[in-house]
Amino acid sequence: MSNEYYEGKTAVITGGASGVGRSLAFGLGRAGANVVIGDVDASAMESMAKDLSSEGISNRIERCDVTDKASLQSLLDASLETFGKVDLVFANAGIGAGEAGPIWGFSEKDWQWCFNVNLWGAVNSISVFMPYLITRPERTHIIITGSGNGAYTVLPDVPIYTATKAAVHTITENLHYQVQMGGLPVVVSALFPGPHVVETGLFNSGRVRPEEFDKGVTGNETGINSVEDMKRMAEEFGFDLKTTHPDEVAEMALAGIPDGNFWLLAHTEESMAKVQRRADMIINKTTPVPESVG
Ligand SMILES: NC(=O)c1ccc[n+]([C@@H]2O[C@H](COP(=O)([O-])OP(=O)(O)OC[C@H]3O[C@@H](n4cnc5c(N)ncnc54)[C@H](O)[C@@H]3O)[C@@H](O)[C@H]2O)c1
Repeated sequence: MSNEYYEGKTAVITGGASGVGRSLAFGLGRAGANVVIGDVDASAMESMAKDLSSEGISNRIERCDVTDKASLQSLLDASLETFGKVDLVFANAGIGAGEAGPIWGFSEKDWQWCFNVNLWGAVNSISVFMPYLITRPERTHIIITGSGNGAYTVLPDVPIYTATKAAVHTITENLHYQVQMGGLPVVVSALFPGPHVVETGLFNSGRVRPEEFDKGVTGNETGINSVEDMKRMAEEFGFDLKTTHPDEVAEMALAGIPDGNFWLLAHTEESMAKVQRRADMIINKTTPVPESVG
């Protein structure tokens, strides 16, 4: 199957005003889908609306905070009001809390914000959209953005983020099993942006950090506030950080969805070796050693 699959379909994308979500929106729109974006970043949403419309992509952009179930319900209602149906839901919104140092020293505000958006955002999206998707006579899709960091490897750099994504993956896999066991016409997919660090705003999530989770620090405690910062730091440690453009992630995802693939994942030799080492370590009960980004 090809991108013709998306012609006339309606796709809802949370966190769709930037990065991976933005690329998904353009990929889907160019393939003839209507796109509905839910996000909290007002200025990114404004440019998104302009950019989509200037390409003639039919769209609706709504403020939607995925930590609030009622806000997601309004996003579903708005989608139905404008386009009459929803065929694909991308539960994609996510943030990095910017934690650094020992786990026992992390601010509770980092834990709360990151779990609220990454974990509760996915849970709320499932709770609001699944009851609708299972009533549709045609096949529908829910695509949940996880991360290899958490799902199949544990990088030591951002423990809170990793923990949220481990939980998100478990929930996604369980949702897939429940749908399969129930014979429901919904395809569940796990999207892994990559294979390298993706050039998005994730390292600058502080721009949408709500006041209630303010911890009195400007920027990330790691000192890394962009992919460029990461590249510079990698250089200092003597290696070249490879990156992936979000359009490549969208292309990979949109190629796998029509075939009903669960894993929307681009592996490299290095990432497969990480999975292998982890499996070997568990089977052989060897003491874990940290893996590195890249
Ligand atoms: N960038 C990477 O290397 C990478 C790797 C693996 C997974 N991911 C995942 O990809 C997804 C997309 O992130 P990205 O990398 O494109 O980052 P991004 O910052 O460019 O995009 C994330 C979007 O989510 C929005 N958002 C944040 N909080 C929200 C909330 N409460 N409600 C609604 N929207 C909210 C932001 O405003 C932003 O538009 C995330 O789930 C992230 O964890 C990214």
